[in-house]
Formats: sequence, structure tokens, C-alpha cells
Amino acid sequence: HIRNAAYSFESVAAVGAGLWTLLERLSAEAIAARGFFVVALSGGSLPATLGDSLPAETTIDFSKWRVLYADERCVALDHADSNHGAAKKALLDKLPVEPAVVATINPALIRNPQAAASYYQARLTALAPAADGISSPRIDALLLGMGPDGHTCSLFPGHALLDVKERSVVHITDSPKPPSTRITFTFPVLNAARNAIFVCTGDNKADMIHRIIDLEEDVPSARVKPTLGKLYWFLDAPAASKLTLP
Ligand code: 6PG
Repeated sequence: HIRNAAYSFESVAAVGAGLWTLLERLSAEAIAARGFFVVALSGGSLPATLGDSLPAETTIDFSKWRVLYADERCVALDHADSNHGAAKKALLDKLPVEPAVVATINPALIRNPQAAASYYQARLTALAPAADGISSPRIDALLLGMGPDGHTCSLFPGHALLDVKERSVVHITDSPKPPSTRITFTFPVLNAARNAIFVCTGDNKADMIHRIIDLEEDVPSARVKPTLGKLYWFLDAPAASKLTLP
């Protein structure tokens, strides 16, 4: 049950510190087992939550990190709406060592979202090998945000993309959250993750957190339940404020 995956912290800074503690362990385990650590970032507030709490000293070997984006907007890399642009500024540029790979959307394909999705699927497949009988690419740490409507990545309530089974990355041209044209991981990839970690802060998430965790409503974010992996919901006090179950 998702309840068992929920951890609440008093502040955004405490959420960030808790995330780094978890990432330090997961990164060391993955590097010991496979030689690299595959991290997927989401857009929104996530990069700043991580960047603002980056520990001054850490044993993390960022040079073994492969960074991907769980979803990305079809805009230039330096556009104000770019998830990569935001992550670079808030987080990647602050890391003490450059990651081995930062896999961005192909800027030459932003006007052809279908081709951009195919290109990114090939990148994902190469960087996050399938393993352990799971046929989809396996992300070590999949960092997810959630919108107040329950969306995660660019997978929105009631949208046909929720049912995609055969592809790892798809495009969307009618995202209710602007900008409308994006590429996004699909559920087979989300549920192939070794660790899927939701990071939800702020009181505008409280209602949806209550509906997912206490009422077990079937919204997109609630469908993230990794087949062989572990699920985490990291919440700050305002996001956790409407939880009723102990
Ligand atoms: C995007 C995101 C999206 C985001 C949520 C939460 O590119 O728009 O990946 O899924 O993570 O909307 O955003 P906030 O953290 O800003 O609330």
C-alpha cells in the first residue's frame, strides 16, 4: 500500500536532505552492482528541491551518473520552459563533478515531437538497460513530481497515453499543463524502475495526496507501483497536512 511508502518531513529543506541521504545509498549500490547510476529527473519544483539542499560534502560519485528526463517539453534547451534548462541551472551546474551523461531531448527534433520521442526512447534504452526479466529500461532512481490533478511526468488523468504498453517514450501535443507539446516516459518504464521516488511539496498537493493515500483513488500517480522496485513518497508538512490515516 502507498501509505507504507510515504515519508513526511517538516520542510522542503528536510525533504531535500532526506532525498540526498537516499540518493547517496542508491547511487553507491548501483555503482557497486553495475558501474553506473541511472537517474531520471522530472520538471517543476524538483530540481530546485534537490539543488537547494545539495550537501557540501558527499561520497556520491557523480562521474558515474547517467541523467535522463522523465518528461521534457518540446522547446530549445535554453528556453524558459525547458526541464533540462531548469535542472541545469538549479542542480546540474552545482554538482562538484559532471555526470557521465546528461541525456537531453534532441534540439534538432523539437518541431517533430514523434521523432523526438523515438530518439529519446533509443537513448533511454541504451543508457538504462533492461534486466531481471523486465523488458523495459530500468531507471535506478526515478524522481517524480505530481500535479494537483494527480498527473506525473506528462501522464494526465483520462489521457490515452496512460494505456501505452509498447513504447517507453511517447509524445503528447495536448498537455493540459502548458506547454502543450512534450515527450514523456510511459507506465512500463515508470513501473520498471528500481526506485520510484515521488517528491511532493506545498499545500496545493494536500488534497490529491489525501485522495491517493487515504482514499486509494485511481489517478495516474497512484498507478506508479514498480513491479520489482521500491516506491517512496517524500512529502513536506503542507503536502501531508490532509492525511487522515495514522
Ligand atoms: C513537467 C513535470 C510535471 C511536474 C509536476 C509537478 O514537466 O511539467 O515533469 O510532471 O513534475 O507537474 O510540478 P511541481 O513540482 O512544480 O508542482
